Amino acid sequence: MKKIALTPVNSTRLINHGPVVMVTSGADKPNIFTAAWNMPVAREENSAIVALAINPDHYSYHLIKEHGQFVLNIPGMELLDMVIICGSTSGREIDKFKETGLTPIKAQAVDTPLIGECIGHIECIFEDEPRPGLILGRVVAASVAEDLFDECWKIEEVKNRTIHHLGGKYFSYPAERVISQ
Ligand SMILES: Cc1cc2nc3c(=O)[nH]c(=O)nc-3n(C[C@H](O)[C@H](O)[C@H](O)COP(=O)(O)O)c2cc1C
Repeated sequence: MKKIALTPVNSTRLINHGPVVMVTSGADKPNIFTAAWNMPVAREENSAIVALAINPDHYSYHLIKEHGQFVLNIPGMELLDMVIICGSTSGREIDKFKETGLTPIKAQAVDTPLIGECIGHIECIFEDEPRPGLILGRVVAASVAEDLFDECWKIEEVKNRTIHHLGGKYFSYPAERVISQ
């Protein structure tokens, strides 16, 4: 297998494609921003820790630091246009719930709303920031569309498949679920 060299910066493109999330933050005037760089980092007895890499210039960064809460909302493919809008506009200038028509709904354990149209939600409390913009969150509640989850994602229709950002304007979605022996 012949390999080509990548710059360290472009190396992120090889592992970029975990599901894109739409992060909500704030409470009275909540905001939404799109994040490809998110991942689980620990499973504990009654909780889990997730990481979110957010540019400290983003409006959402200030809301997360101010309120100490955020929610990772997982969109299906049918929300790709909203993912782009929330990832290319700032809550400093517009109300993204109004602009997109997405529905804020009450969360179970935090004051920050969920996005009703998303297929899953991970509610987090700010835990730590080991370097600027690397936010660790403790999961305090989570929920998922009943018919799309059976031990893990079990999605048939393309409109509900998770969105994976390959970098730039490129996205993909997972193929069939495969069960190992
Ligand atoms: C597909 C996609 C993925 C993105 N992933 C991230 C990310 O992981 N971290 C980040 O800081 N910004 C990311 N962005 C950029 C922010 O979503 C964007 O700058 C947004 O406008 C910030 O909004 P805010 O100022 O309202 O917080 C991404 C944008 C897109 C379109």
